[in-house]
Amino acid sequence: MKTTFDLESIPTQKGRVAIVTGANTGLGYETALEFARKEIKVILACRNEKKAMDAKKRIEAVVPNAELEFIPLDLMDLASVRIFAGTFKKSYNRLDLLINNAGIMIPPLQKTKDDFESQMGVNYFSHFLLTGLLIDLLNATEGSRIVSLSSKAHETGVIDFDNLNAEKSYSKMVAYSQSKLACILFTQELNRRLKAAHSGTISVAAHPGVSRTDLGRHIPKLAYYLLMPIFLLITHSSAKGALPTIMAALDKDVQGGDYFGPVGFKEMKGPPAKVKAKPRAYDAEIAVKLWEVSEELTDFKFEF
Ligand SMILES: NC(=O)c1ccc[n+]([C@@H]2O[C@H](COP(=O)([O-])OP(=O)(O)OC[C@H]3O[C@@H](n4cnc5c(N)ncnc54)[C@H](OP(=O)(O)O)[C@@H]3O)[C@@H](O)[C@H]2O)c1
Repeated sequence: MKTTFDLESIPTQKGRVAIVTGANTGLGYETALEFARKEIKVILACRNEKKAMDAKKRIEAVVPNAELEFIPLDLMDLASVRIFAGTFKKSYNRLDLLINNAGIMIPPLQKTKDDFESQMGVNYFSHFLLTGLLIDLLNATEGSRIVSLSSKAHETGVIDFDNLNAEKSYSKMVAYSQSKLACILFTQELNRRLKAAHSGTISVAAHPGVSRTDLGRHIPKLAYYLLMPIFLLITHSSAKGALPTIMAALDKDVQGGDYFGPVGFKEMKGPPAKVKAKPRAYDAEIAVKLWEVSEELTDFKFEF
C-alpha cells in the first residue's frame, strides 16, 4: 500500500480547472490554495461573497499569479446549484476536478429550501445534483476526477430510507453520519456507472481524520473548551487534513472508487494514504436504492 504522498513532486497542472465547494475556509481553503500553487484555475464555490473574496485575497497573497474565480453556490437550495452549474458552463468548456467538499455538522434541526434535512441537503443531495449537472463536462475532460468528502462518522452511519430527511425524528449526529455514509455510497455508485459508460472520469472519496477547522461551530462552547486539550492531541491542522483530498485529486496512481484518509492512530491524523471504509459503504444494493431516491428527490436524472 502506498503510504507516501509527496505534494512537492506533483508537477504543474497548468491549463486544468477545478471547482472546490466551500473553498473559503477549512479543508476547502487549503485544497484551493494547493491547487493554486500547482497553477490550477480554481473556482471558489461558496455561499458568502465576502468570505470567498477574503479567501481569494489570502490565496493571492501566497500565490500572486493564482487564477481564482468566485461563483456563488448555496447548497441549502437546489435552485442555487442549478444557477451555479449554468454560470460555470457559460464560461468554461472543461472541468478536471470537482471537489465536493462543503459541509455542515450537527446543526439544530433545519430544512433546506427543498425540504431536505440540512446535513443531508448540504453534504449530500446538493453535491449529487451538482455532480450530475457537470457530468457532461467532466466526461469530456480527459483524466477528470470527482472527489467527495466523507468522514470517520460514516462508520456509525445508516441510510434510513424511512427517515432520510428527519421526517420522523432528528438526531444531529445520526443525520451527520448518514450524510457522510451517503457520500461514500454515492462515490462508489457513481464510479460504477462511469465505468459502465466507458468514461475516463473517476469518482473517489477522502476523509481528513479529525482536523482543526470551523466544522465544530455547532458544538456547545463549554464542551468545546473543556475538550480542547484532548482535541489538540488527536487532531491535525487543516493543511494536513486537506492532504487526503489533494492526494485523491492529484496522485497519479489513484483508481476509481479509492478512498483516502490519514493513516495515523485510528485514522484521526497522520500522512495521507489509501484507506478502507466500513463494509456498508460498499453495499451496492443500498447505493443503487439511494441513487434512485436521490434522482427522484432532486428531480434530476444523470446522463453519462
Ligand atoms: N474537520 C474535520 O475534522 C472533518 C472530519 C471529517 C469530515 N470533514 C468534512 O470535510 C468537509 C469540509 O469541512 P471543514 O472541516 O473544512 O469545515 P468548515 O471549516 O466548517 O468548512 C465548511 C465549508 O462548507 C461551506 N458551507 C457550509 N454550508 C454551505 C452551503 N449551504 N453552501 C455552500 N457552502 C457551504 C462553509 O461555508 P461558510 O464558511 O460560509 O459557512 C465552508 O466553506 C466537510 O464535508 C466535512 O464534513 C471534516
